[in-house]
Amino acid sequence: MRALFLPGEDNFPSCATREKENNFTMATWSSGQYLKFANERTQPSIDLVARIAIEAPMRIIDLGCGPGNSTAVLARRWPRAALTGLDNSPAMLAAARQSHPTWTWREHSIAEWAQENTEVFDVVFSNAALHWVPDHATLLPRLFAAVAPGGALAFQMPHSLRDPHQRLMRELAASAVWRSRFTQPPVTWQVEPAAIYYDLLAPLATRIELWFTDYVFVFEGPEQIVEWHRGAALPPFLEALPDEATRAEFLRDYLAAITPHYPRRPDGKVLQPFRRFFAIAYR
Ligand SMILES: C[S@@+](CC[C@H](N)C(=O)[O-])C[C@H]1O[C@@H](n2cnc3c(N)ncnc32)[C@H](O)[C@@H]1O
Repeated sequence: MRALFLPGEDNFPSCATREKENNFTMATWSSGQYLKFANERTQPSIDLVARIAIEAPMRIIDLGCGPGNSTAVLARRWPRAALTGLDNSPAMLAAARQSHPTWTWREHSIAEWAQENTEVFDVVFSNAALHWVPDHATLLPRLFAAVAPGGALAFQMPHSLRDPHQRLMRELAASAVWRSRFTQPPVTWQVEPAAIYYDLLAPLATRIELWFTDYVFVFEGPEQIVEWHRGAALPPFLEALPDEATRAEFLRDYLAAITPHYPRRPDGKVLQPFRRFFAIAYR
C-alpha cells in the first residue's frame, strides 16, 4: 500500500526506514510536553469512546496509551473493565503507571504485539498512535483479529499531513538548507485515505463507521503551534538533528515558515485547524 505523498519525502538521502519504524521509539517522548495540551489531546478519545456501541466490554486494550490519558477515558466509561495500556515509550509508560498503578501497562511495539498476540479483547482501542506504525495493510487485519466476537476495533489518527503545520515541517526538512544536516531521515506518519481503511476492514467487520472531525485549536500565537507539535510530530525531526543548537535553529525556521499561514485574529490569538480520522469496526 502506498502511503500518502509527503512533500519532499523522496528527497531525503535514504528513506529506507520502513522496517525500522516498527521498533521506533522516540527517546524524546515527554509526557510533560505532550500533556501541556492535555484537553486538546484527550478530546478525540472522549469523542471516539462515546460512539463505541458496546455496553459492557470486560477486556480493553489501549494501543499507544501514552501517559494513560486515553486509558483513563476508557475507564471512565467502563469502570468494571480490565484495562491494559501498551506503549513502546518507557517515559510515557512511567507517567501512566504513576497515575494509575493498578491497571496493566505493557512495554511493547504495536506491530510486534499485533503479530504475536493470541489474546482477544472486547475493545481494541488506539488514539493518536497508529500513524506511527507502518504498513497498515498488514497491521489492521492483525489488530482486528484481536477483537472478540461482539467487540470492536476503534482508532483515531491525525489526518492533517497536507495542512501547513505538517506540510511545512516536512518541506523544511527536505529543503536544500536542511536536508544534509539530518543524521538520519526523520520518521514520518503513515496515514491513508479513508477508503483504504474501509477496504481493509469492511470485508472483516459486521459493521463499520468512519468519520472525520476538524478540531480548531485556539492558541496564543504561532509559538504555541510549535509548542503543540513539540509534543508529538516534531520530536522525530529534532532527534535526527545533531545537537541542541541545530534543533533550536530548525524550530526557529519552522516558526518562520508557519507564521504567515496562521494570521492573528482581532483578539491576537491564532487558530490551528486539525483534522482527525476515526474508525470503529465491529466483529
Ligand atoms: C500521540 S501519543 C498518544 C497517547 C494517548 N493514546 C492519547 O490519546 O493521547 C502516541 C503514543 O504512541 C506511542 N507509540 C508510537 N509508536 C508506537 C509503536 N510502534 N508501538 C507502541 N507505541 C507506540 C508513543 O510512545 C506515544 O506514547
